[in-house]
Amino acid sequence: MDSIIVTGGVELDGQIPIAGAKNACLALMPATLLSDEPLTLTNAPRLSDIKTMTVLLQSLGAEVTSMQGGRVLALSSHDLNNLTADYDIVRKMRASNLVLGPLLARAGRAVVSLPGGCAIGARPMDLHIDGLTALGAEIELRDGYLHAVAPKGLKGAVIEQRFASVGATENIVMAATLAKGTTVLRNAAREPEIVDLVKCLSAMGARIEGEGTGEIRIEGVDRLHGATHAVVADRIELGTYMIAPAIAGGSLELLGGRRDLLPAFCEKLEATGVTITETNSGLKVARANGRVHAVDVKTEVFPGFPTDLQAQMMALLCTADGVSVLEETIFENRFMHAPELMRMGAAIEVHGGHATVTGVDRLRGAPVMATDLRASVSLILAGLGAEGETVVNRVYHLDRGYERVEEKLSACGARIERVRGE
Ligand code: EPZ
Repeated sequence: MDSIIVTGGVELDGQIPIAGAKNACLALMPATLLSDEPLTLTNAPRLSDIKTMTVLLQSLGAEVTSMQGGRVLALSSHDLNNLTADYDIVRKMRASNLVLGPLLARAGRAVVSLPGGCAIGARPMDLHIDGLTALGAEIELRDGYLHAVAPKGLKGAVIEQRFASVGATENIVMAATLAKGTTVLRNAAREPEIVDLVKCLSAMGARIEGEGTGEIRIEGVDRLHGATHAVVADRIELGTYMIAPAIAGGSLELLGGRRDLLPAFCEKLEATGVTITETNSGLKVARANGRVHAVDVKTEVFPGFPTDLQAQMMALLCTADGVSVLEETIFENRFMHAPELMRMGAAIEVHGGHATVTGVDRLRGAPVMATDLRASVSLILAGLGAEGETVVNRVYHLDRGYERVEEKLSACGARIERVRGE
């Protein structure tokens, strides 16, 4: 397993290009299942999760060709010959469950393994099941798999989600594009990745409105055609690299970055004393002199502060000039980065969904363990400002969601290298 070694204390200066959004691409790729015509995705990120989704779609009989070094994906599911998403793939990546809605809509049947829990939580699928059942699917859990059928096809319905689930919204919207009649999805997720998926589905001939608001309306159509779609910029990669100069000092320009992708996060980061300037090519971020200010953070669904940036923000607040409280409301176990940051000298107390961080002058480098994707990158960020060397182990977590992080950061002056493991 590879490790990444960071030697702290170097201010950053330079530009980082923001890649296409992992969490948009993982929903856009299954959309190919809705049509027998080719779908081309450009600005695709080069990540191991995209490779996992590729393997899954190919196991269903879809063709996925990666071109231009992975930047362009050509997908076609003209001949689907398998409707089962296997446990072995789904357990590695929960987003595999996004084939459920499209397969039901296209083929009237799907067998999808329950993903099982992961480091950050139980990750149930009740909202996916409720929504698709409302569209007329019959879904039964048997030996760890969801067996879903829609013998009479799917029929539009009014659905009110108890929680604005991103994945459930994506499965329901994709399924509803081919249902008979109108579907109204209330308390729909509003994340930019949903808006991007709807943009692609509309280009494929779907009739959808209200994306980005809490209520999405879908008029079912008989079939969808092919399209070409550019994946939206990755707001979580963007936010992650915005925190880098806040911790290390100096400034970075994030190419392709947009404030509207991260409204609450930008406001919170500015409250710590970081300056964010919109440029012609993206966002320029610099830390004002001295330590950042302590702030309280509560994770919420979009447009609130993203849970996927909570760990990175905690890394920054470890050396703020006061006490910060972070409240994690989306996942039940998303503070696993805290004990690792404490190994570096951070003063953090975790009680249930709250973490209280008392800022210290500076962290000290140490060997630390990555546990999940966002926790991994928070340890690298902490290492950028720490005294001495931080060795982050198990960086395969990192490669799921960040393209060549050591290259992007070392190009801006960071002392960071990857050590190939056995
Ligand atoms: C998406 O996961 C993202 N993944 C996650 O990013 C992100 O953290 C999450 O949305 C929240 O923004 C992808 O887009 C591939 P949810 P998803 O359904 O769809 C509960 C990363 O680091 N819930 O909005 O699984 C669930 O347990 C990943 O890139 C139910 O109770 O998130 C969780 O507590 C991590 N029942 C909360 O809702 C359900 O049926 C949010 O889940 C579904 C979800």
